Amino acid sequence: MSTLQTGLQGKVALITGSTSGIGLATAHVLAEQGCHIVLHGLMDHDEGQTLAAEFRAQYQINTFFSNADLREANCIHEFIDNAVNALGSIDILVNNAGIQHTQDVAHFPIEKWNDIIAINLSAAFHTIQQVIPAMAEKGWGRIINIASVHGLVASANKVAYCAAKHGIVGLTKVVAIECAEQGITVNAICPGWVDTPLIGKQIDSIASDKSLSYDEAKYQLVTSKQPLPEMLAPRQIGEFVLFLCGGAARGITGSSLPMDGAWTAQ
Ligand SMILES: NC(=O)c1ccc[n+]([C@@H]2O[C@H](COP(=O)([O-])OP(=O)(O)OC[C@H]3O[C@@H](n4cnc5c(N)ncnc54)[C@H](O)[C@@H]3O)[C@@H](O)[C@H]2O)c1
Repeated sequence: MSTLQTGLQGKVALITGSTSGIGLATAHVLAEQGCHIVLHGLMDHDEGQTLAAEFRAQYQINTFFSNADLREANCIHEFIDNAVNALGSIDILVNNAGIQHTQDVAHFPIEKWNDIIAINLSAAFHTIQQVIPAMAEKGWGRIINIASVHGLVASANKVAYCAAKHGIVGLTKVVAIECAEQGITVNAICPGWVDTPLIGKQIDSIASDKSLSYDEAKYQLVTSKQPLPEMLAPRQIGEFVLFLCGGAARGITGSSLPMDGAWTAQ
């Protein structure tokens, strides 16, 4: 898709958790279209500034970096204020940051529950609440929440993750309805397995429990749930975000769209 086709040049995109994995790939995809980019994630301040400078040099765009901890509502508000002051507005919001912890419900640590709900769900409420008034005033905005197949179906040992991702699906629907007349679309993408550091621990634990190599364990993890026997590349999710920002997707809002290798078709 060329810049001219998407018409996104000069828009400001804020992607939470864009120092790694899906968020970083999405930042590259949107920067290629000429979007100014707010980079964000738990990265040392100097490293973040270096990443932001690399984006500026590679794409001739403006950038802003923040390592705000999304567990704290105050930090989120300050982060969005600083990003708006630096780049002028937020036109595209991608709520992507997320963490995982796997354990049965009886032994699930309360602090992990609280962190997962805060980062994977509540942070999106806070960012959305703060950006929509300006989007509504402009009459244009795109909000894309990176949910998961676990926003649509469940798996054992993922109580907090599934609760948060199902919550994101509900949040997406409500905000889409409320913003439908304001030129703002709100959607969730529900990926299956994506090759990022987030799932490394799950692969490591299968490898050690079953005495498998990392690659064998990875294959086993993917095929245990997903008919398509391969992990998605982070960039594929970024391309889906781009599609949802474009004119062809104008009528898509309030949707939670699987990109899951037929996982939820079963
Ligand atoms: N990898 C998968 O298989 C997969 C599948 C479906 C959905 N997802 C979702 O995609 C999103 C991105 O995941 P990923 O796989 O790219 O993970 P990742 O671990 O590569 O990246 C996570 C990002 O979130 C940031 N982050 C984590 N805790 C934070 C905190 N407290 N405050 C601020 N930022 C924080 C990290 O710094 C990083 O930038 C997540 O919401 C995840 O649930 C991933």
